Amino acid sequence: MIQPVNYSTLPTDLHPKALPNHVAVIMDGNGRWATQRGMPRIAGHRQGAKTVKDLLRCCKDWGIGALTVYAFSTENWRRPMEEVTFLLRLFDRLLRRELAEMQREGVRIQFLGDLSPLPERLQDLMQEAMTVTHANQRVQFNVAVNYGGRQELVAATRHIAQQVACGALSLEQVDEESLSRALLTYPLPDPDLLIRTSGEQRLSNFLPWQLAYTELYFTDLLWPEFDRAAFHQALQWYQRRQRRFGGLAPTPLAQGS
Ligand code: FPP
Repeated sequence: MIQPVNYSTLPTDLHPKALPNHVAVIMDGNGRWATQRGMPRIAGHRQGAKTVKDLLRCCKDWGIGALTVYAFSTENWRRPMEEVTFLLRLFDRLLRRELAEMQREGVRIQFLGDLSPLPERLQDLMQEAMTVTHANQRVQFNVAVNYGGRQELVAATRHIAQQVACGALSLEQVDEESLSRALLTYPLPDPDLLIRTSGEQRLSNFLPWQLAYTELYFTDLLWPEFDRAAFHQALQWYQRRQRRFGGLAPTPLAQGS
């Protein structure tokens, strides 16, 4: 008889030493999930927020050190005003409601992106959440808000150009390491696994530098449907991959490389 999987602990078919250290997620399909059920799009975002919460807890329970989610892109301002307003209020509400629990569970939260156009109250809340959880080490939770990958690269390039102009860095010292240091994700390692839901197969300006060697996993599930069993499947797929980083000798992840 097939035993049901207990998702409160790491499923036994997953190799604990070959888990990704850092998982990035493009949470796509909230609107379609709601529309399919005859509900307004915002109901999909509300449900999607529950899915993120469970995935974060799952990362914590299973020993995955960092989760980075794309919550609001620089392009998302083009959505109808009511939807944008709803999303910003949802971030506000979630932060107020979940901060104490995140703190208790050892979550370090970080917001990636240009927060300056957000309502001041929300900016203050985000700043407070980052400060309060700063020393937590169980799992790092990065939320990309008003984030655009190309914009991040432009800002990093400007920062480096400034350092060169003022003599703090020589031209020869400009390399991959110095550029990585100027990115919002520093000092986190690059994501090992990217998950995008809803059948779309694009990066949509999400972490273009950091995803250069990342394994890309696409699923037709809509974001609110992406539960622990779906994450389990993504990790099974990841552990079957052979990461070569441009070299020749393949290293099967599941052999604990
Ligand atoms: C994409 O689905 C989803 C978003 C742009 C918003 C994601 C936000 C949340 C899940 C809310 C909470 C998150 C955090 C981390 C606080 P879509 O609306 O583009 O769906 P569609 O492609 O079906 O229209």
